[in-house]
Amino acid sequence: MVSKSVPHGGKLINRINLELKTDFACNYVELEPLELSDLELLANGAYSPLEGFMGKADYESVVHHMRLANGLPWSLPITLAVSEQKAAEIKIGDTIKLVHHHKVYGVIEVVEKFAPNKKLEAEKVYKTTDPAHPGVRKLFNRPDTYIAGPITLVNKPPKTQFTSYYLDPIETRTKFAELGWKTVVGFQTRNPVHRAHEYIQKSALEIVDGLFLNPLVGETKADDIPSDIRMKSYQVLLENYYPKTRAFLSVFPAAMRYAGPREAIFHALVRKNFGCTHFIVGRDHAGVGNYYGTYDAQKIFSHFSEEELGIKPLFFEHSFYCKKCENMASEKTCPHDKSNHVILSGTKVRGMLKNGEQPPKEFSRPEVVDILIEGMKEVITKS
Ligand code: ADX
Repeated sequence: MVSKSVPHGGKLINRINLELKTDFACNYVELEPLELSDLELLANGAYSPLEGFMGKADYESVVHHMRLANGLPWSLPITLAVSEQKAAEIKIGDTIKLVHHHKVYGVIEVVEKFAPNKKLEAEKVYKTTDPAHPGVRKLFNRPDTYIAGPITLVNKPPKTQFTSYYLDPIETRTKFAELGWKTVVGFQTRNPVHRAHEYIQKSALEIVDGLFLNPLVGETKADDIPSDIRMKSYQVLLENYYPKTRAFLSVFPAAMRYAGPREAIFHALVRKNFGCTHFIVGRDHAGVGNYYGTYDAQKIFSHFSEEELGIKPLFFEHSFYCKKCENMASEKTCPHDKSNHVILSGTKVRGMLKNGEQPPKEFSRPEVVDILIEGMKEVITKS
């Protein structure tokens, strides 16, 4: 039983040096938003034990075996892609500035350059090479050379909204200790928290000390609900329906990969680094379309022992409100016919919210719905 959260690989990595001067002349790489968020998460230890963008041995081992070259579980490649032309300019041993919109955020000491097999990466990591898959499309659109090496973060990426909700793993660990939590369940989400989410969170809360609500706020696909709207909905929900000393909200600035099962392992390991002992995996975790089976993201955990993961996954069946039970339930607990179950697809709910229609209160708390409808109105007015 996991009762203490030790960072993956044994120690929390810290590669932040905001004092480091970068006014020297050298080559630079322009980072995509996904790479910029990875840079920050590498530096603040969320991706411990990684200290930089992956080299070939780690990359290939992760793609094929879901392990780093040293055998430690790790399920997603964390890589930095550059054009062939840029790669030709860069020499092994060079220090390169990592830039986004003309600002230097970090440096990388280049130890390797290699050409990935992106088709194989897609097959193994995403289980598809279909360019309609948002993660695969992004992978195929990246340049064709990966450069690798340890990084240093010299400037934190800008936060324009909900700034107090960005906490590094060292800070969330301190917070959990202050709250007196020994066991903490992490909850990943890229959606508003609906009744089914609340049900599985609170079911988990019955057996652990605290809930770490850790919504992903990095890059998501265009039709996902924007993170600023979601953040307001999390705040109102926690305010009204969760005991103050049992739930804590801060954001996860990573980009969504939509890699389903592989991303579930990644999400769990990263939440371990933030200090969680448990991690919720429900139905179709990090999935998109019909690329993954409903429970594939749970089944994949059987590739690893609980000891080597160091975080205990808590699996939940597809949950819903049942009109006959007059309660939240799942196939495990409800004997009634499906016609009694309030189940709405994400697409349907987003459509309703855009049209100003209220999804039923059995699906989502009215306070949450009000915020989402208001937020979607603003999105529509701006676009
Ligand atoms: S995710 O891409 O971040 O996984 P989402 O925000 O929808 O998407 O889900 C957050 C977590 O809740 C995931 O673990 C997911 O499996 C789980 N989940 C979402 N909806 C349900 C549901 N109706 N029943 C059980 N688990 C669910």
